[in-house]
Amino acid sequence: MKIISKVNELCEAVQAFRQAGKSVGLVPTMGALHEGHKSLIERARKENDALVVSCFLNPTQFNNKEDLRTYPRTAERDAAMLEACGVDVAFMPTVEEIYPEPDTRVFDLGPVQQVMEGAMRPGHFNGVCQIVSKLFSWVMPDRAYFGEKDFQQIAVIRAMIKQLEFDIDIVQCPCIREDDGLAKSSRNVRLTPEVRKVAPQIYATLQRSLEFAKSHTVEQTHDWVVATIDAWPEMETEYFSICDGITLQPVTDWNESNYIVGCITVYCGDVREIDNITYKNTLGVF
Ligand code: PAF
Repeated sequence: MKIISKVNELCEAVQAFRQAGKSVGLVPTMGALHEGHKSLIERARKENDALVVSCFLNPTQFNNKEDLRTYPRTAERDAAMLEACGVDVAFMPTVEEIYPEPDTRVFDLGPVQQVMEGAMRPGHFNGVCQIVSKLFSWVMPDRAYFGEKDFQQIAVIRAMIKQLEFDIDIVQCPCIREDDGLAKSSRNVRLTPEVRKVAPQIYATLQRSLEFAKSHTVEQTHDWVVATIDAWPEMETEYFSICDGITLQPVTDWNESNYIVGCITVYCGDVREIDNITYKNTLGVF
């Protein structure tokens, strides 16, 4: 495995793969790798001749300075994991390398970017689009892999590649969970032991809501999920949106769409945990 920190070396490495007729997969990450990343990397390894994984803690997507400051940084462990997974190139650049000048680009991707995380974390998706579009233009992968835990991020990236006319297959991979159901996340290490004990109730409640939804309206299901989670003193729901799985706009009736998901963000102590569940999918989009 080559560890590369310079953009020109990344482009050269990718060019060599192309010249050898190899397909190229890309897994963009912010480092602090866990089993969730590993599953993306293992899938990408199987589906591509050459594999690039980027580890870059992208400052432009953090609207909260404290979140950026306390985000786990585990570069050495990340490199060892990537090597063990058979990655060809680990791209681990500095902030100065990626942003020699401030990136002033503003992405307008319409309604998909404006709801949920877009509304709660102003500028977040703009920063995601800045870094992901840079990586895409340097690597031009055949396929890029993203975890379904960040459900809205995938929708935003799909909208971005359409707008920028990138010919890249976005591969949506299932959320990987701890044994007790908590979605794996780099931020989980920041949960206090007390909060860590109750955090699995987020997914447990979402799962129980599948049954509840069968005999209740969208609004009743929404309110039940929020009330059930908020009954735990350690947790507070920031938003729960039952929405169309493509447009991400809220639905009011279970018959309104063939693809309905529930996306939630919960404050567990001072850590924001996001998760989602699919209520209905007859589109076969996975
Ligand atoms: O999902 C993430 O880890 C980040 O948002 C991404 C896609 C690597 C961009 O920094």
